[in-house]
Amino acid sequence: MVKVKVKNQKALKSVKEKLRGNVSFSKTKNGVIVKKWPTKKSKKVLYKIQKEKIRSKLSKKKGIKDSVTGNLFGLNQSMDRVTSKKQIDRQMIDDLKNDSRALISFLETQNDGIIIYTLEKLGRLENGYSREPLLNLLGNKNGNIRALALKNLAKMSDISLLPVFVRCASFDTNTEVRRESVSAIGRLRNEKAIPALISFLKDNDPKVVMQAMRGLFVFSDRLDVKQELIKLLNHPNELIKEVINKEINGSIYKSNSIEKHDEFPAFLKNIVVQGDVQEALKFVPEESVHLTFTSPPYYNARDYSIYQSYEEYLNFLEQVFKEVHRVTKEGRFFVLNTSPVIMARISRSHASKRYPIPYDIHPLLIKMGWEFIDDIVWVKPEASVKNRNAGFLQHRKPLGYKPNAISEMLMVYRKKTDKLIDWNIHQYNWNKVKKSKVLDNYETTNIWRIDPTFDKVHSAVFPIELCNRVIKYYSFVDDLVFDPFAGSGTLGRAAANLDRHFFLTEKEPKYVDIMREDLIKNKKFLNSENGKPNFLDIKTFASLSKQNI
Ligand SMILES: C[S@@+](CC[C@H](N)C(=O)[O-])C[C@H]1O[C@@H](n2cnc3c(N)ncnc32)[C@H](O)[C@@H]1O
Repeated sequence: MVKVKVKNQKALKSVKEKLRGNVSFSKTKNGVIVKKWPTKKSKKVLYKIQKEKIRSKLSKKKGIKDSVTGNLFGLNQSMDRVTSKKQIDRQMIDDLKNDSRALISFLETQNDGIIIYTLEKLGRLENGYSREPLLNLLGNKNGNIRALALKNLAKMSDISLLPVFVRCASFDTNTEVRRESVSAIGRLRNEKAIPALISFLKDNDPKVVMQAMRGLFVFSDRLDVKQELIKLLNHPNELIKEVINKEINGSIYKSNSIEKHDEFPAFLKNIVVQGDVQEALKFVPEESVHLTFTSPPYYNARDYSIYQSYEEYLNFLEQVFKEVHRVTKEGRFFVLNTSPVIMARISRSHASKRYPIPYDIHPLLIKMGWEFIDDIVWVKPEASVKNRNAGFLQHRKPLGYKPNAISEMLMVYRKKTDKLIDWNIHQYNWNKVKKSKVLDNYETTNIWRIDPTFDKVHSAVFPIELCNRVIKYYSFVDDLVFDPFAGSGTLGRAAANLDRHFFLTEKEPKYVDIMREDLIKNKKFLNSENGKPNFLDIKTFASLSKQNI
C-alpha cells in the first residue's frame, strides 16, 4: 500500500488522472492510497508524481536544483546528497517515513550529519512501522547513528526486537550505543525483558546499570525484581546507591522544622548580631535560613583574621559551615566566595606560599552534607588587582610566570536532599513566585564581570551587584538571607532593597558601626515594630532566641 499526499483539490485531480488506468487506488481527504503494489508501468507513473513533488519542494529552497532524483517504489534511480539540514522539513520526513524503501535509499546516500538530523526528527514511530531502514543502520560505523537508530527502534515498543537490543547492549564497542540499547530494552515495558535487564545490573558501566535499573523500576512490585535492586545498595557507584536507596527506602531527608518552608523565626528578621558567629549560631533554630552568601575572613591576609595555622583556619570555617548547614532549610543554597591567598616570603632566600582555600574547603563542605551545584567566577578588571607580573615582564623566563589574579570563586552548594528544586519552588504561593521572578538581562554565564568596591573602613567589601545577583537568583521575596561574616553589611543592604530579610553576624564593632551609620540612609534596617535599630549583642540575641520572638 502506498500513500500519495497532495496539497489541494487541483493537485489531487491531476494525480488521479495520471493514475487512472494504470493502478487501483482509493481517494482520501488529502491524497490517494494505492491499494495494490504497482505494476512496472504504474510504478513509473507513481515515481514521476513523487519525483515532481520532491523536486518542486526542494527547488523552492535557495540554490537547490534537481538534487533528488529519487529511489522510489523499487526503481533504482540514485538519490543525490542533500547538502543542508535546512532542506529537510517535516513534510519530507513524513514522506520518507511513509515509504520505507525511499527512506532506506535516502539514508544510504546521505552524509552522517544529515542521517543524524533525520533520525533526530523522525518523531513518533508506532509498532508496525517498517523496522528495516533503522535495522540497516545498526551496522553503521558511526556510533551516534547506531545509538539514534536504536532510540527510534525503541519507540515501536516491539518485543520481537528484544534479541536485537540485547545483542547491541552486549557486543557493541561504543558505550553510548550500549546505554541506548539497554534503555530500549527497558522501554519495551514487557516482563519478557526482565531477565535481560537483570543481567545488565552487573555491567561495568554505571550508566548501563542505571538504564537497566530504570527499566526494572516499572516492575519493582515484583519480589524477584526488588531483590535484585536491593543488591545494588552495595554498588560502588554513589549515584546508583543514592537512587536505589531513595527507590527502596523512600526519602532520606528528615526535617525537624516546625515552620513552613517559606517562613522563618520572627526574632531573626532584619537583625545584626555583634559577636562571634559560632556563639551566635548556637541560638539559631534548625532550618531557619533560606540563603547564605558569605565571604569568610581570609587566612591571615587582613588584620581581622589571625589564625595559628592553616589547619586551624580550615577547622574554624568547617565548624561555622556545619552550623550554617544545620540552620539552612531543606534543599536551600549556600554561596561561598573565596579565592586562594598568598603569604609573602619572609626574605629573598624563601619562597612565598599560596593557599588554595576554595579547593581545600570544598571536600569539607561535601562531607558535611552540602551538594555541589555550580562554580561561578567573579572576574575583576586587571587594573584593580595587585600586579604580580612586573618581574616576569622583565625576565620572561619560564617557571617564573605569575599571572595577575583577577578572579574569585563563588561556589554554589545546596543542602543535600532527595527532593528536586521544583519541590522548593512549590513551597511558595504563586504570587510570591511571580514577584520573585528574575527579570531580563540576567547573567547567562558563570563568568560574572563585576568591578570591585573599595571601602574606606572595610578592606574587603562585596560589590552590591554581586549580592544583588546572588539574592535574586537563589532566594524568593520575603526569604531570610544570612551572612555569618557580614563586614560592612553589604548583603543586608542588598537583601532589604530586594524585599528579602537579613540576618547578619559580625564580630568587629568598627564594622558594625558602619552598618549603624547606614541606618540613617536606609530605613529598612529599622525594626518595623518599634522603629529601633535591630543591633543586638549575643546576650540579648540569646534571650530573644529563648523566647523565640
Ligand atoms: C571578608 S570580610 C566580609 C566583608 C563583607 N562581605 C562586606 O561586604 O563587607 C569577613 C568579615 O568576617 C568577620 N569575622 C571574622 N571572624 C569572625 C567571627 N568569628 N565571627 C563573626 N565575624 C567574623 C571579619 O571581621 C570581617 O569583617
